[in-house]
Amino acid sequence: MRKKIAAANWKMNLTWQSAGDLMNAILKTDHNLKDNQLAIFAVPFPYLRAMHEKVLGKAHTFIAAQNCASTNNGAYTGEVSAEILKSVGIQYVILGHSERREYQAESNQLLTEKVNRCFEHGLIPIFCCGEPLSIRESNNQNNFVEIQLKESLFHLSKEQAAQIIIAYEPIWAIGTGKTATSAQAEEMHAHIRSVLTEKFGLDVANEIPVLYGGSVKGSNAAELFSKPNVDGGLVGGASLNADEFNLIIKSLP
Ligand code: PGA
Repeated sequence: MRKKIAAANWKMNLTWQSAGDLMNAILKTDHNLKDNQLAIFAVPFPYLRAMHEKVLGKAHTFIAAQNCASTNNGAYTGEVSAEILKSVGIQYVILGHSERREYQAESNQLLTEKVNRCFEHGLIPIFCCGEPLSIRESNNQNNFVEIQLKESLFHLSKEQAAQIIIAYEPIWAIGTGKTATSAQAEEMHAHIRSVLTEKFGLDVANEIPVLYGGSVKGSNAAELFSKPNVDGGLVGGASLNADEFNLIIKSLP
């Protein structure tokens, strides 16, 4: 059964003190997550291990990294490898967030390497895709996202593909307060699933959660998540507020 996921992306926010307060406030809420529902928190690197220990024992709740290196361990000052992440208990890694594609010039080809390092070390990528405003305005978003998927994920085996999580994040909706309508999200998510079906077959494509990201809030999560191909959200700004994120978790179908 396909997983439904509320994923927090804290980005480069929160001090150690405020991160602890936020996590405590969220964890004290009983979310009553069903077997196929997950809450995932992508936190800054220095907090990974301690946050992982904090959520141990909280059902269906996990910590993710926001990035990993494209290479294996070695002389790469400042980088953090998939193997290092795995060794501190981490299971999920956000890859290809549009902010990294833009500010760190991450290409579809580089992301192929990062995806490979994750699978080599037993980590599950939360793979981000999504178009900028100019592409949406010229109505080329389907093709743009299809190329992102093809160039970074189409080398995977069916077994690997069945484990991945995809996050569709239209860049024009990230941090702007401009959420895609649930119809726009559903249209793209259905397209993503059809692209995955063509390559990996219907059984595999039906297993892959496709999350929506871009100004998800407590007030719009239930409507977005009500669409058949929207399997939850990757949430930035609203994940920094316990009440908002609790509401988003509770909106999972
Ligand atoms: P936002 O960010 O919820 O603040 O729009 C989403 C994301 O970048 O993952």
